[in-house]
Amino acid sequence: MSASIKGVVLAGGLGTRLSPLTKVTNKHLLPVYKKPMIYYPLEKLAAAGIREVMLVTGGPFAGDFLKLLGNGRQLGLRDLHYTYQEGEGGIAEALGLCEHFVEGDRMCVILGDNIFSGDIRPGLSRFLEQKSGAKLFLREVPDPQRFGVAELKGDRILRIEEKPKKPKSKYAVTGIYMYDREVFAAIRTVKPSGRGELEITDVNNIYIRKGTLTYDILNGFWTDAGTFDSLLRATNLVHETPEMH
Ligand code: DAU
Repeated sequence: MSASIKGVVLAGGLGTRLSPLTKVTNKHLLPVYKKPMIYYPLEKLAAAGIREVMLVTGGPFAGDFLKLLGNGRQLGLRDLHYTYQEGEGGIAEALGLCEHFVEGDRMCVILGDNIFSGDIRPGLSRFLEQKSGAKLFLREVPDPQRFGVAELKGDRILRIEEKPKKPKSKYAVTGIYMYDREVFAAIRTVKPSGRGELEITDVNNIYIRKGTLTYDILNGFWTDAGTFDSLLRATNLVHETPEMH
């Protein structure tokens, strides 16, 4: 679609919530119906015309991504780059590793365990019309306390809370994020959270304070796949959606 937007897929972390499935492989290599989990976010980027992608991996099985994905051509990418996150310092830390790759461009970031059926192209077009800033994709869910949750007022997000006990809405922040280059400066200012991670929610709240964050509602189905129940749900949803096979 555009030469000035790059893709990033984040597949670091150890996936301990899925142990023992993740004892001898990386969470993102586990099957979701007919394909490894990591195929889905990469295919979404390729379908949107984003063909230059950085994959952030980590943990002891990082080499298996290269064996599986090679240079990414099979998935419709032009170039697939790899980098390695030491430890589990958080989503924002993983994204911070991509600064040299993104250079001055804009980026579309997808979490490696997010499986969804919708088309990101319309949202991407609207993001590219923005002068600067970021765009998030929200989704109404029955269990918002498991996610980043947006407090909404009309067409604005007032604030995002990470896994709140008392969510202010049912709108989860999905793991699809569009940013301008300023994201890297924002990441440098955030401090580790209670769970010891650099939180992407803190980065998004910086954009909210600057007044440059927009959102779309994600169509189709959306789920994470990082717990036993959500992994099963992801498999069932893909199974029911032939165009994703
Ligand atoms: O799925 C959407 C949710 O993802 C958002 O609503 C939350 O705001 C956001 O914090 C995140 O929540 P989780 O706590 O569920 O994220 P999790 O730790 O499961 O990580 C999701 C993916 O991010 C994981 O599959 C790989 C990548 N990741 C995560 C960490 C902690 C990394 O690449 N490096 C990391 O250090």
